[in-house]
Amino acid sequence: FIEIKNLYRDKEQYIDKDVKVAGWIRTSRVSKNFGFIELNDGSFFKNMQVVLDDKLENFKEIGKLPISSSILVEGKLVATEGAKQPVEIHATKVVLEGESDNSYPLQKKRHTVEYLRTIAHLRPRSNMFSAVFRVRSVAAYAVHKFFQERNFVYSHSPIITGSDCEGAGEMFRITTLDLDDVPKTEEGKIDYSEDFFGKEANLTVSGQLNAEIMALAFRNVYTFGPTFRAENSYTGRHASEFWMIEPEIAFADLEDNMELAEDMVKYIINYVLEHCPEEMEFFNAFVDKGLLERLNSIVSSDFVRITYTKAVELLLESGVEFEYPVEWGIDLQTEHERYITENIFNAPVFVTDYPKDIKAFYMRLNEDGKTVRAMDLLVPGVGEIIGGSQREERHDVLLERIDEFELNREDYWWYLELRKFGTATHSGFGLGFERMIMYLTGVSNIRDVIPFPRTPKNCEF
Ligand code: 4AD
Ligand code: MG
Repeated sequence: FIEIKNLYRDKEQYIDKDVKVAGWIRTSRVSKNFGFIELNDGSFFKNMQVVLDDKLENFKEIGKLPISSSILVEGKLVATEGAKQPVEIHATKVVLEGESDNSYPLQKKRHTVEYLRTIAHLRPRSNMFSAVFRVRSVAAYAVHKFFQERNFVYSHSPIITGSDCEGAGEMFRITTLDLDDVPKTEEGKIDYSEDFFGKEANLTVSGQLNAEIMALAFRNVYTFGPTFRAENSYTGRHASEFWMIEPEIAFADLEDNMELAEDMVKYIINYVLEHCPEEMEFFNAFVDKGLLERLNSIVSSDFVRITYTKAVELLLESGVEFEYPVEWGIDLQTEHERYITENIFNAPVFVTDYPKDIKAFYMRLNEDGKTVRAMDLLVPGVGEIIGGSQREERHDVLLERIDEFELNREDYWWYLELRKFGTATHSGFGLGFERMIMYLTGVSNIRDVIPFPRTPKNCEF
């Protein structure tokens, strides 16, 4: 079977030749002597029109097939002048592979995304999700291409880990202990020494700490894998399982880090615009009217860079009454982030040098003793898509920070040793892959950019 994509892309080669395709019926309009089937084989966003006539021996049977039946088609590829589609197939033989039931829920009308989430096993067959999941795949490839072209080593961080990178305690615990009979220590705490790994273990919230190890051997590395957070937040931007891209670069400071992040984001946008034109047109027409214009302007202009202190000043000057009041020291909330990036700049904005108390222990302390070399990238429509920093490379300062955060020094012995054996200025960041897909497609809920979302109280499929 030839992919429908190839019949479109290399049509000159196939016109007036016999071709064979296989796919699912998206729509079908049949009259007494002839009919039209819109066939989709998954290889391409667009359907292939199949023209049937009553010379087909099973014309009646095929004409009556419900939407989503799968069929095999043989026929001639014909150029159609002035029609919506440049080619169509005049069928000479159609074989039914799997008849669909009339109860198939994706009938030819627009369904709400909320409804489509309840049929995650079928939604990849809809236009919208077909487009989203292909963009997701192409964007993932673009990420690898970007880093591989720059000689970064792809390093796999473990999914099961004993440490809490962000120190926020939002981890899914892994255990093989019998919950009805958990062994306890003398102080009455759960005794993990009897557990599978002999210590507490959890699903990773970030691959960063392991990436730092690798960066201090390979200089430039990246991870790209699933990460997990047991945050009980029911928002459109938080998932319990999401994919993160985390480069880590040695002999590089926060400026280098921002430059890398900006180059990467622009590269992914350009790559997807070039390789998914049909899907991107669809989003622009049906999901977010200004999308293409916005993405094109983003790739051709510089991202804004401001400090946290400046951001707070701008928010206060705006005179807007935010739900969560603004003052120096607060963690910026979604409403603030969106105001900065959408109302003040209408562009992607790097915010740097946050107060040390609202960021993670590993970020490099600034000379002022109050802020750290952190950066977040905020974008219109989504808010934060990247969080990163220059890392604390000074052994003694790092030790103090670990104490300040009341973390266990022993848990970080290897992380501290990296600062003893040839420490180096180094930096890195994490790009939330789903947030990037939201940004690329204009889709506003994270549940609709990952095939099988995991969110609180939602683990179906
Ligand atoms: O800002 P975060 O927490 O940073 C880190 O985890 C660092 N260790 C990364 C690093 O420096 N290597 O998360 C990074 C990004 C966020 O900006 C956001 O895009 C995404 O991960 N993210 C989430 N995406 C979906 N659902 C969630 N619950 C997310 N939490 C973070
Ligand atoms: Mg963050």
